[in-house]
Amino acid sequence: MQITVSVNGESYVRDVEPRLLLTHFLRDELRLTGTHWGCDTSNCGACVVRLDGVPVKSCTVLAVMADGAEVSTVEGLAHGRSDAELDPVQEGFMVCHGLQCGFCTPGMMMTSRALLDRDPAPTAETIREAISGQICRCTGYENIVRSVQWAAAKESERKRDTTGDTESSEAMA
Ligand code: FES
Ligand code: FES
Repeated sequence: MQITVSVNGESYVRDVEPRLLLTHFLRDELRLTGTHWGCDTSNCGACVVRLDGVPVKSCTVLAVMADGAEVSTVEGLAHGRSDAELDPVQEGFMVCHGLQCGFCTPGMMMTSRALLDRDPAPTAETIREAISGQICRCTGYENIVRSVQWAAAKESERKRDTTGDTESSEAMA
């Protein structure tokens, strides 16, 4: 069956088997191996991507279900930013040691990005709830929560700076 899927802003047309999972479509067809495949039971959440903005476990979605949809993967997180600039979520995980082996990290970051897009200042409890369907065997989750809070603070600081800049340019005009 032929499908057309936009992944990280790029359109792909592929013939796929109806039973192909989105995880395998991304990893094997498109070679976007940042999306991890960690279990056979839909439990781990290492495979989380965004499907039309909503975080989903891509091992629970057939590739054909993504026909006509927009998919974002961890590879697209810094999309549109300069080479040196990461998404604040990526920075937060780096600064606050939100990862150890890194296996869960792509999924954790995609869920965190979606959370911050709908709630720019989440509480620790909200963050824990957002990632509650995902498993990290290394960190004990504490530093993941800190990483997301760091990203939220960074984004709010950036927004303040941008608004300040706009206001000062308006005042000068
Ligand atoms: Fe484990 Fe998808 S691979 S939930
Ligand atoms: Fe190893 Fe989360 S960092 S599983």
